[in-house]
Amino acid sequence: MADLSVQYCGTTLASPLLVSASPLTATLPAARALQEAGAAGVVLPSLFEESVNSDSQLLDAYCDRLKQYKDELDIPVFASLNGVTQGGWLDHAERLQQAGCDGIELNIYYVAANVNESSDQIERRYIDLVYQLRSHIGLPMAVKLSQHFSSVAHLIKRLEDTGIDAVVLFNRFYQPDFDIETLTVTPSLQLSTSQELLLRVRWVALLRQQVRLGLAVTGGVHEVPDLIKALLAGADAVQLCSVLFAKGNSELARLRDGLEQWLEDHNHSAVTEIQGIMSQGRLRDPSVLERANYREVLQQNS
Ligand SMILES: Cc1cc2nc3c(=O)[nH]c(=O)nc-3n(C[C@H](O)[C@H](O)[C@H](O)COP(=O)(O)O)c2cc1C
Repeated sequence: MADLSVQYCGTTLASPLLVSASPLTATLPAARALQEAGAAGVVLPSLFEESVNSDSQLLDAYCDRLKQYKDELDIPVFASLNGVTQGGWLDHAERLQQAGCDGIELNIYYVAANVNESSDQIERRYIDLVYQLRSHIGLPMAVKLSQHFSSVAHLIKRLEDTGIDAVVLFNRFYQPDFDIETLTVTPSLQLSTSQELLLRVRWVALLRQQVRLGLAVTGGVHEVPDLIKALLAGADAVQLCSVLFAKGNSELARLRDGLEQWLEDHNHSAVTEIQGIMSQGRLRDPSVLERANYREVLQQNS
């Protein structure tokens, strides 16, 4: 049997399959069921900075929940913080560290809608925030990012320089919808499809040789080939959410068994043998991931 274990964010995972921050991991029974179904680790739903600011008991409850998970589960448990200001995060992260989680995922969910704020100002805010946290918190730390930066590769390199352990690519932004009868803005949440994976696979492949930090894919992992593509590109782990919402926890075993079968069929004895073998620097023609590919696609279809 192939060895599915991987290193990610300061810890060893039994397989690359994590369950991402979402209501799926919100209760201990749910997290235990995910562990039994084959999850190699779970990320708790995010603790939102704004919510804690208006109700400090939420942080106590979150920390209690973390302690319970750590007592009861055998798999790594990551906390998730969602916010945009420095002060709040530092206090919260210290408390999470005391609660004993295996790592913290920082979700910087910020819509850059201010016309007076430059990309440099926004990126500097991210770096300062992460740098502050990194210098106070010893726990393994990952940053979950969106792709909406003018130079996402450069930002990730700067994040690496702060000393974080991993980035999680990419946040999905939920687009508010317009109700054209009531003229109100309504929240809309749609689950992903495998189509969303390709953006992630491409960026992981482009980044793999340029950074040393861990790379996790979130967004669009539904099928066995999706998982394998992410690993070939160079992902250390993948995070699952929509597929489990849509089809249930048994998808974890299906994906894990499918990965094992693929490794066996292709004469590999460990996941680590395939990680990054299709990253940009290891492709015969590295330009296929950049502009040249775009030109060829256009030519083929004209
Ligand atoms: C209902 C729901 C709630 C979510 N809550 C969070 C959250 O609290 N924090 C977070 O970082 N991401 C959250 N996400 C995003 C997921 O963790 C994941 O990154 C995203 O759904 C992409 O993965 P997928 O294609 O496997 O669904 C949520 C997603 C869904 C569908």
